Amino acid sequence: MTWLITGGAGYIGAHVARAMAEAGERVVALDDLSAGIPNRLPESIPLVRGSSLDADLLKRVLADHAVTGVVHLAARKQVGESVDRPTRYYQDNVGGLATLLEAVAEAGIKRFVFSSSAAVYGNPDVDLITEDTPCAPMSPYGETKLAGEWLVRAAGRAHGIATVCLRYFNVAGAAAPELADTGVFNVIPMVFDRLTRDEAPRIFGDDYPTPDGTCVRDYIHVADLADAHLTAAKRLAGGATGDLTVNIGRGEGVSVRELITLIGEVSGDTRQPVVEPRRPGDAPRAVASAALAARELGWSARRGVREMVESAWQGWQLHHAGPQAH
Ligand SMILES: NC(=O)c1ccc[n+]([C@@H]2O[C@H](COP(=O)([O-])OP(=O)(O)OC[C@H]3O[C@@H](n4cnc5c(N)ncnc54)[C@H](O)[C@@H]3O)[C@@H](O)[C@H]2O)c1
Repeated sequence: MTWLITGGAGYIGAHVARAMAEAGERVVALDDLSAGIPNRLPESIPLVRGSSLDADLLKRVLADHAVTGVVHLAARKQVGESVDRPTRYYQDNVGGLATLLEAVAEAGIKRFVFSSSAAVYGNPDVDLITEDTPCAPMSPYGETKLAGEWLVRAAGRAHGIATVCLRYFNVAGAAAPELADTGVFNVIPMVFDRLTRDEAPRIFGDDYPTPDGTCVRDYIHVADLADAHLTAAKRLAGGATGDLTVNIGRGEGVSVRELITLIGEVSGDTRQPVVEPRRPGDAPRAVASAALAARELGWSARRGVREMVESAWQGWQLHHAGPQAH
């Protein structure tokens, strides 16, 4: 098999490409480098620079590399930006997926893995979110992921493509410092950013109906997430048919306050957080049921939150220390 990894120079895509290559799979990466960093990939993994919206390029890449399966991660992913620019998000995330699936069907490729997100669920009032929990995304970004899943399953049925949609929860950490997330969109880098600026971390709301009043999330180490992709790809290569949609989380909640305490221990900067008003749209609790992934994929996360924070901190220091530091 040869796997095309779209978004392969991105934070998660580079981890997936490396994990699959290290497991002996042939991989080729495609990335328009709008957010990707080519150096995240070793030279042994070919990187094609281009967009999932470019039908001619896709056709060429699939043929030139004799691709037999696709892992599609390329997408825009900023929730706030998606509220301001919904057409762009639908065009890139749903339009790019439609263009890719068209090329995949034409090329006769029968295996497809799609990066979905816990954002498809919105704000459900449940202890553990299962795959049967109703989907009600709260942003255009989440909508593009849900519409993407529908499209993946419909194209799978129409063209006999076996598909897996992976609904990632809160991805964190790095397998190596140079692979770390360089964006400041998630809570861990946001706290690092505050500390680096010599400012106290912020908690948005401490009056939620949770044990310590702060929001609770399910964090998943990006190296575990990469293993989940490898497992999904192997399932498809092994002849699985039909579609599977599955949560990728640890099934354990960690509160923002607990996370900030852990970051203090790891960074040595234990200043007390300041509490600010709630942000609109933040769910009190979003924790996955990890049961279906264990049952269907035989996969479960191995790394804990401390490992995520430690590896993310090493990556942050690599990217943000020195003369450019704030
Ligand atoms: N990071 C998270 O916590 C998280 C959670 C749930 C789902 N996801 C999904 O995982 C995927 C990867 O996210 P990430 O965190 O690695 O983000 P990222 O921005 O680091 O990676 C996305 C990559 O796709 C590339 N890209 C974007 N649009 C493209 C296009 N049209 N054609 C080709 N390449 C394109 C970017 O250059 C980038 O390298 C995305 O689909 C995202 O929605 C991420």
